[in-house]
Amino acid sequence: MLGRALRRHFPPAVRIDAPTRADLPLEDVAQIEEHWRERDITHVLLVAAWTRVDDCESDPERAFLTNGILPGRIARRAAHHDVSVTFLSTDYVFPGTAGSPYRESDPAAPAGIYGRSKWMGESEVRAAGTKHRVVRTAGLYGQGGPDFLAAILPRLEAGEVRVVDDQVLAPTWVDALAPALWSVVLGNEPGTFHLTCGGEVSWFGFARAIAELRGLPVERVVPIATRELGRPAPRPAYSVLDNQRAEVLLGVTLPSWRDALASYLASMEDPSV
Ligand SMILES: NC(=O)c1ccc[n+]([C@@H]2O[C@H](COP(=O)([O-])OP(=O)(O)OC[C@H]3O[C@@H](n4cnc5c(N)ncnc54)[C@H](OP(=O)(O)O)[C@@H]3O)[C@@H](O)[C@H]2O)c1
Repeated sequence: MLGRALRRHFPPAVRIDAPTRADLPLEDVAQIEEHWRERDITHVLLVAAWTRVDDCESDPERAFLTNGILPGRIARRAAHHDVSVTFLSTDYVFPGTAGSPYRESDPAAPAGIYGRSKWMGESEVRAAGTKHRVVRTAGLYGQGGPDFLAAILPRLEAGEVRVVDDQVLAPTWVDALAPALWSVVLGNEPGTFHLTCGGEVSWFGFARAIAELRGLPVERVVPIATRELGRPAPRPAYSVLDNQRAEVLLGVTLPSWRDALASYLASMEDPSV
């Protein structure tokens, strides 16, 4: 989903090469190096991941391989080719017990396999000896999904929907994130950055905003607790990320979660928006 958005927003000065899993699997490091050599690649965005949070709990081996070991292996090879690496990571590296937005320097303590595997990827990329950036984001949605909106909209149009009110974050539209991410990738500042839409809301509040913006009765959205869903993977209760570093060092800002949601819903109704 994010990979496609990055393609929609690539800056004019950039020649982009966006292989799919079929073209270039993360597992085939030799082919990846050949690919870099043939095309004179200077920057790599490691966006590919195994993102099915609940499935990661039942197959930790695949999660750690895809999200941790392979990004590390690729970053170590990048060091030999003078290629800079930007690794996409997640709010799930945090425990979710804070009462104010997490900064880049706050200690990670992921609760589930997905978060732990992405934390491993971050650590491996940092230790690889190449120029790198780690960009953490959260609650992605947008064109092509699958995402929260694709799951909830048809149900909301049909009737009542139960949504968790005890997970607070800043849901982020991929078309708002992609231009900001390009600015970070092409900027002069290395290190870790948080990039999410502004503000904070629970998934319940987000679903109510969707109903309101779609002209549907907001009472159709009913708050529930996370434990009622009985999902295998734990989720952080509070995973709002502080975006100040990107703002101060690079002048990069994203719209508020509500403005971004309104723009996305408008673009769904009229793709020319
Ligand atoms: N979605 C979120 O809410 C969220 C939140 C925070 C951070 N992130 C991070 O942001 C990034 C983008 O997320 P997204 O939601 O856009 O992900 P996505 O839609 O699930 O896309 C992930 C892509 O990675 C590919 N992939 C998986 N294993 C691969 C492998 N071994 N080799 C090559 N490609 C492989 C998948 O291909 P297949 O379809 O063939 O499996 C898919 O095209 C990820 O790094 C994710 O961890 C996501």
